[in-house]
Amino acid sequence: MHLLRVQVPDFRGLKNIDITFEKDFVPSIFPLGSQNGGGKSTLLQLIFVLLHCSVDEDKKPFLQNLLQGFKVADGQDKRVLAIIDIWDGQKIVNLDFFSEECSPSEAMLDCNEDINSEDSINLCYYSSAQKNNNNQEPNTKLQCHLTCQSKDQAKSLLHNISRKIFLAAPSTQVFLFLPPDSRKLLFSNSSKADKNYYGILASARFELKGLFTYDFLAVNLLIKSFKDARDRDFREAIKTGSYGNSYQSLINDLNLLLGNKRINLNEDFSGVNFKLDNGETIELYPEDLSHGELKRLSIYIWLKSRNIEDAIVLMDEVEIAFHPDWQYQIISDLQEWAPSNQYILATHSYALCEALTPAHVKEIEPKLIKQES
Ligand SMILES: Nc1ncnc2c1ncn2[C@@H]1O[C@H](COP(=O)(O)OP(=O)(O)O)[C@@H](O)[C@H]1O
Ligand SMILES: [Mg+2]
Repeated sequence: MHLLRVQVPDFRGLKNIDITFEKDFVPSIFPLGSQNGGGKSTLLQLIFVLLHCSVDEDKKPFLQNLLQGFKVADGQDKRVLAIIDIWDGQKIVNLDFFSEECSPSEAMLDCNEDINSEDSINLCYYSSAQKNNNNQEPNTKLQCHLTCQSKDQAKSLLHNISRKIFLAAPSTQVFLFLPPDSRKLLFSNSSKADKNYYGILASARFELKGLFTYDFLAVNLLIKSFKDARDRDFREAIKTGSYGNSYQSLINDLNLLLGNKRINLNEDFSGVNFKLDNGETIELYPEDLSHGELKRLSIYIWLKSRNIEDAIVLMDEVEIAFHPDWQYQIISDLQEWAPSNQYILATHSYALCEALTPAHVKEIEPKLIKQES
C-alpha cells in the first residue's frame, strides 16, 4: 500500500494542499514539514480517519466528529473534502471524498442501503453545524467516488485500505476525531474517569486499531512479541525440521536498540528486565528507562506486535524526546524495523529531514526555514 498523492482544497486550516509521495523513492519515508500551526497534524488525522473509518460502522462516529462544521456553501451542490490516490499493490485507486447536503429524512436511512447513480458510496451523515456539541441534526452526507465494478467491490477495496493505514501520535495533542465536547476536556482538570480526555482517548484507541500513541510501552505487547517470535520459530521447525531465528533476531534488535543494555525475558513470560553493564551489572525495569529509550522501544514493539507491513504509516512529531542523533537515526531505524511500509512523518526536526534527500521532504505553508548560524 502506498499513498501516492493527497489533495485537500479547504479543510480547517488546510488550503490548496497537493502533495505527491513518489512511489519509486528509496526509502519510502517522507518528512512532512511546516512551522507550528501549518496543518500537519490536521492532514495526518484527515487521511487516517478517511482511510481507516469509512467502511466499518463502528468507526463512523470518528468520521462524523472530524467533519462537524464541514459545510457545503450556499448555492453549491457539493464540496470536495479530499482526493487521495493510492497504489494498492496492483493498481492506482483514486478516492474522491466529497460532501453533499441532504434532508434530515434522508439522513435517517441506513448508509449501506444506497449507492447513487455516479457510483459513489455514501459513507456517513453528519451535522455541518459549527456548534461544539454532538446533538445536531445531520444535514450533510459524505460520499466517496471510486471507479469499481460493483458496490461490494468498492467496499472490499476500502476495507483492505482501512487495514493498512496507521497513525502514531503524541497523546497530548488534540485529536479531531474525538467528540467535540470531549476535546475540550484536554483543557480541563477534571479527574472523573468519564470526564477525562485520556480515558476517552484510551477507548478511541480500543476502537481504532490503527491508532497508536507514543506515551506508553505496554509490557504485555513486548511479551507478546516474544511469544509470537517463539511461535514462528516453532512453526518453522514443524515445516522444515529446524527452528527459525525470529526469537534470536528479536533479542538482537532490542539489544541494538537499547545500546548498553541487554533485555531479558522472565522464564515464566511474566515480565522483562534490562541488564546494564557498567563494570557491575545492574538490573533495570521498564519504568527505569529514559523517555527517549521507552519511545524508541515502544515504536519498535508497536510495528512488530501489530505486524505492520506493506502499510501506510503516518507518524506525528516522531522526534519528540529524541536527541538529534536519534532524530536522524529514526529514518534508518524505520527502514530496518519494517521496510515494506511507507512512512509519512510530520516533523519540526531538521536532523530528521537531513537523513533523506531534499526531494523526500514535503512541505506545507508556512514552511520551515532553517536559521543559518
Ligand atoms: N476551522 C479552522 N479554520 C482555519 N484554521 C483552523 C481551523 N481550526 C484550526 N485551525 C488552525 O489550524 C492550526 C492547527 O493545525 P495543526 O494541524 O495542529 O498544525 P501543525 O500540526 O502543523 O502544528 C492552528 O493554528 C489553528 O489555528
Ligand atoms: Mg502538529
